[in-house]
Amino acid sequence: MTLERIPLAGVIGSPVAHSKSPQLHHHWLRTYGLKGHYIPMDVSADDLPDVLKTLPRMGFVGVNITVPHKERALELSDLVTDRATLIGAANTLIFRKDGKIHADNTDGYGFIQNLRQGAPDWDPKAGPAAVLGAGGAARAVVASLVDVGVPEILISNRTRVRADKLADDFGKRVRVVEWVKAGNMLEDAALVVNTTSLGMVGKPELRVPLDGIRKTAVVTDLVYNPLQTRLLRVAGEIGCTTVDGLGMLLHQAVPAFERWFGTRPEVDAATRAAALR
Ligand code: ATR
Repeated sequence: MTLERIPLAGVIGSPVAHSKSPQLHHHWLRTYGLKGHYIPMDVSADDLPDVLKTLPRMGFVGVNITVPHKERALELSDLVTDRATLIGAANTLIFRKDGKIHADNTDGYGFIQNLRQGAPDWDPKAGPAAVLGAGGAARAVVASLVDVGVPEILISNRTRVRADKLADDFGKRVRVVEWVKAGNMLEDAALVVNTTSLGMVGKPELRVPLDGIRKTAVVTDLVYNPLQTRLLRVAGEIGCTTVDGLGMLLHQAVPAFERWFGTRPEVDAATRAAALR
């Protein structure tokens, strides 16, 4: 008798207890009647190389990677997709049958899919995008905006050198605006994106002046706050189409789930509810 092998996947980070990914993947496993488990794993930087060597031998088909291991995970992989190389970080690892680790980054994909679902009329070519922040999340967003053909991307960040680095890496379409002038930058934008951590539960709100945002702009916040961030609240009052950050988390998980468990899952109202449980 051969024993059936149940595919295992999970998320590696530190801390990882807050992650919504286990609820999300288990919801999809239940919805599609699939066998599998998805496990949160709190792993230190020192242990990461050994853990990544051991998991495939234990029946893991892959893992998601979250803060603070996204850059290191990329370095520890054998094969890397172009988009992960461009972003400089991995959020998804596939453990291949030949023993090699294949790294991908689906954050930018999740960002664009969330925008397409929440603002179906958004036209990437309609005008400039204004991006607040220049951290890891901003890299994924800028890479995806370049990819879908946004003509100009304006970035503003409290620490100017990080924005300059991002602009250098992504070429002529990206321009840096001083943090003190971030409010002016928003006035020209067809798309406004907050990638800073401001507005998260327990953190201060974004203090950039928002009253110049155009009524026709699409406004999205990577931060998900059940009480709504100031950015989305003000944009809603102006009359903009607003898209919250929960959907990005859900959409970025779709390619990995399909690869690991063999079915492409839907992101719908039930998926959102499951991730928030
Ligand atoms: P992530 O990978 O989620 O993007 P990160 O790399 O730590 O995380 O980046 C966090 C972003 O939020 C950065 O753009 C950061 O600005 P700095 O580069 O100046 O640190 C921004 N951020 C965090 N706290 C902030 C604050 N109080 N005011 C302005 N920007 C802030």
